[in-house]
Amino acid sequence: MIPLAPLHPRLVHFPIALLVTGSVLALAYMLRWQRPTLATTAWLLILLGWISVFFAVLTGLIDRNSAPQDPEVASLISIHTALGFALIAVYGLMLYERLRSPNVLDSPSMRWRLIALALLGLVLVLVDGWVGGSLVYKHGVGVLN
Ligand code: HEM
Repeated sequence: MIPLAPLHPRLVHFPIALLVTGSVLALAYMLRWQRPTLATTAWLLILLGWISVFFAVLTGLIDRNSAPQDPEVASLISIHTALGFALIAVYGLMLYERLRSPNVLDSPSMRWRLIALALLGLVLVLVDGWVGGSLVYKHGVGVLN
């Protein structure tokens, strides 16, 4: 038994809070308030959020092994897992664009691509958190097993 297990519920608050706040600030910058500090803060939060997703995924994959074998739970976990990997891809793509061009949020040609990625990431993180919550609070995963 891993000390402090299950670890996953202790770590998932970080990607949720960091990525939601980072995406909202990036959208606010692109759509309305072009203040340099807003863009810097958004990127910092997205970077920290992206790093924290790896820890969420790693601990989730560990906890997944002790989940009950119920088919409904198994399919929810598959969706939850796929959304977790999609988060890595979406925010990884945003950070890659930032690496290629530090002022990408100001680029007219990239603007709608970045807005779409930030919105997609926001939806993914909220849905993934909601599915994770229903695993625990509806199906008792990590509580009853
Ligand atoms: C991709 C791999 C992932 C797997 C295999 C996974 C698996 C699990 C499992 C098995 C649970 C039930 C509780 C437990 O036993 O720990 C859970 C809960 C949860 N997961 Fe994940 N997870 C993954 C990624 C993520 C990510 C990236 C997030 C956040 C964005 C997340 C958010 C949550 C939340 C909010 C809960 C409910 C925690 C609670 O309220 O106690 N998971 N997950």
